[in-house]
Amino acid sequence: MNEKKQVGEKAADFVKDGMVVGLGTGSTVYYTLLKLGTFVQQGLSIRGIPSSIQTEKLALELGIPLVSFDEIEQIDVAIDGADEVSSDLNLIKGGGGALLREKIIAKAAKTFIVAADSKKMVNQLGSFPLPVEVLPFGVEMTSKYIQELGGSTKLRQKDGIPYLTDNGHYIVDCSFQDLTHPEVLEKDLNLIPGVIDNGLFVGMADIVITMNANQQIDINLRK
Ligand code: 5RP
Repeated sequence: MNEKKQVGEKAADFVKDGMVVGLGTGSTVYYTLLKLGTFVQQGLSIRGIPSSIQTEKLALELGIPLVSFDEIEQIDVAIDGADEVSSDLNLIKGGGGALLREKIIAKAAKTFIVAADSKKMVNQLGSFPLPVEVLPFGVEMTSKYIQELGGSTKLRQKDGIPYLTDNGHYIVDCSFQDLTHPEVLEKDLNLIPGVIDNGLFVGMADIVITMNANQQIDINLRK
């Protein structure tokens, strides 16, 4: 059974006529976009804000109308995937490198929905390396300060050179021994000069759609 397809498609059911929709990035939201494309063909009127060039391309191919922030007041609903989801619905995101735009969109959304297959659900965050988006200038110093917070750091590479985000930044993938207080680490990382943002999304997800042990869709609401 393709769990990504099931949860990704389910998320599309939360989108209603007239909404401005934040469009996440990744292989789960891919299925949300396909479903939204079908709904649009059937007459649903929505406007999407994409979180990456990859999503922008796909949305345009599927005929989903797009807008930018200067044309809207707010986002009604944003839908995205995640790399890890804790039992209190905090997230690690950015495995696909789109964390910065994803966080801007999630923050601007009235309702932020995460679609995550069961493998993403964890008791505590931290097995998945935490992506941190950094300015290329001074990346060595920025990495050193991240290490001082307890993280080991690895500059993300693609084809033998540093991976560049859609925003022209690098990603440093970080492993932390202790991630019991993600709300503290999220803020501490962002105080380091050179850090643009990090993949901890604390207290942001309103709804997490996943699959339970009986292979049924589970909808978790933030308490
Ligand atoms: C991209 C992300 C994705 O949401 C996350 O990596 C999950 O991706 P996938 O749905 O492909 O497993 O944060 O920056």
